[in-house]
Amino acid sequence: MARKPSGTRFLPRTAPVVDDGPVTVLVAAASRHGATQEIAESIGRTLTSTGVQAEVRKIDEVDDLARYEAFVIGSAVYMGSWLESARDFVEKHGDELAERPTWLFSSGPIGEPPRPEAEHAVQVDELRGKTNARDHSLFAGKLDKGRLGFGERALVLAFRAAEGDFRDWAEIEAWTREIAEALRP
Ligand SMILES: Cc1cc2nc3c(=O)[nH]c(=O)nc-3n(C[C@H](O)[C@H](O)[C@H](O)COP(=O)(O)O)c2cc1C
Repeated sequence: MARKPSGTRFLPRTAPVVDDGPVTVLVAAASRHGATQEIAESIGRTLTSTGVQAEVRKIDEVDDLARYEAFVIGSAVYMGSWLESARDFVEKHGDELAERPTWLFSSGPIGEPPRPEAEHAVQVDELRGKTNARDHSLFAGKLDKGRLGFGERALVLAFRAAEGDFRDWAEIEAWTREIAEALRP
């Protein structure tokens, strides 16, 4: 598929992003059923409440990264991988992400205790390498069987996955506060 040229394509890589003023963080996530988007919104609210300017976007709505000084990029996990839109985003913007402070998060495991276990939940080594991310955090997710498509429901049945909302908002907030702390001048 032909890609649109990026708006930042002709800027020198060393161009200053913002001359002064507060750091603006892009919080962008890929979500199939909304649970990960809500995590992104929560991260955005926490950043804003600590004085860090943040913009929350769906990942496929973002193309120009020039005005952001730091990034929090996340995706829901399906079959061990980030969603395609999030993988494409990292593929396309990896260099820019690697040049500025970047954090990654995944939302996936379901149940009590969460399954899959952390080491089997998602493969992010390549994504971490491409973005030079400072950290990756794996958060528990939410599964609402009523909202799944036919194929997804069959898979979930096969894996006997639990249903429910296992997102740990306190953990998400604590992680976000560490980001805010790191970005403080
Ligand atoms: C078909 C299917 C496959 C999934 N595969 C994984 C997986 O490999 N690893 C994981 O941690 N979570 C997995 N999950 C759980 C989802 O990542 C979790 O429900 C997530 O919170 C969904 O986020 P979303 O609402 O933003 O799409 C799977 C869920 C479904 C329905």
